Amino acid sequence: MKTLHVDLGNRSYPIFIGQELLGKAEFLTPYLSNRQVLIVTNETVAPLYLDKVLSAFAGYQTATAILPDGEEYKNLTVLNQIFDSLLSNRFDRRCTLVALGGGVIGDMTGFAAAAYQRGVAFIQIPTTLLAQVDSSVGGKTGVNHALGKNMIGAFHQPQCVVVDTDSLLTLDDRQFSAGLAEVVKYGLINDDEFFEWIEHNTAALLARDAAALNFAISRSCQNKANIVAQDELENGLRALLNLGHTFGHAIETGCGYGEYLHGEAVAIGTCLATRLSAHLKWLQPAAVERIFRLFETLRLPTAVPSQLTVEQMIAAMQVDKKARDGKINLVLLYGIGKAALTDQYDVNLFQQTLKEGYATVP
Ligand code: NAD
Ligand code: GLY
Repeated sequence: MKTLHVDLGNRSYPIFIGQELLGKAEFLTPYLSNRQVLIVTNETVAPLYLDKVLSAFAGYQTATAILPDGEEYKNLTVLNQIFDSLLSNRFDRRCTLVALGGGVIGDMTGFAAAAYQRGVAFIQIPTTLLAQVDSSVGGKTGVNHALGKNMIGAFHQPQCVVVDTDSLLTLDDRQFSAGLAEVVKYGLINDDEFFEWIEHNTAALLARDAAALNFAISRSCQNKANIVAQDELENGLRALLNLGHTFGHAIETGCGYGEYLHGEAVAIGTCLATRLSAHLKWLQPAAVERIFRLFETLRLPTAVPSQLTVEQMIAAMQVDKKARDGKINLVLLYGIGKAALTDQYDVNLFQQTLKEGYATVP
């Protein structure tokens, strides 16, 4: 078992990473403020893990909110179900919400915790690879709007994050690969050694080897914790974590939520960022080749979906939290392990990149 720390002064918290952690009270109950616990999960995860998590809270006043499963339900209407549970159970300001599930459940539960009675505590128990390496850490919470992804939300840090890598064994292959896209992201942003490690360990990762998973999750979380500790509210450095996301969000919104998985859209978006970086002569052809090859080996898509036009992509990208005065800011690469946020790119090259993005290879 490994313990990492997110250092944020009086909002610091631990990340526990290991096997067989789900039913263990010692990783959960010390982080409660009173005896009221609402576990928020969904229809898919509840039959798999809810009983185990409930057993850790034996003797506490527990309630559960079981939401419909899917990105298309990450909205204000479904969020209300969490408030219904909290109010009907008369939970007070010292209650704790527990998010048991993937990034959708984590983001919604965190946002409900940020808003309920102007802010209550919450704990993250991420059960997808994507949530374990990214969304459960760092305190970004929220829901989608029909016109833009994650457009309504709040920064609200959890009390602790409990990552049980055994829970990944029930995840389907497509979801698992989607999580690997965010793992690759950390290597590309500022950890070339980790990128190389991933290249050499694709087989072990795809086989869900416990040691490989533990290393990849710990290294990813450490990378994220370092960035969040320096720039919690995304005034600069943290924006680098959005490599591929501006393009990716446009794909998710443009195709309809749920059609492309978040991690798949990020993989395609990262390939577009890679192409544009190469056009700007920031990135060498050999690096471009390595990036595309790694995504393909990890069974991730690299091409823009044919149902989206370039015009639709651009329109969707303009509804982005990094857009300033109508200009789309992008995270681009000037090497493997070197990323920068910029609006200094030629608009013609940007459009050319989108047009070329329908091909699976550059
Ligand atoms: P998800 O939450 O939709 O989970 C994927 C699927 O796996 C769902 O069907 C879920 O029910 C199922 N599932 C979850 N755990 C399982 C398990 N152990 N076994 C079997 N099935 C399981 O998707 P996700 O990829 O985890 O998260 C994507 C979401 O995370 C997006 O909404 C994205 O915007 C958000 N996100 C947030 C941040 C952040 O910093 N807050 C970062 C990245 C992504
Ligand atoms: N997933 C991007 C961030 O947490 O900042």
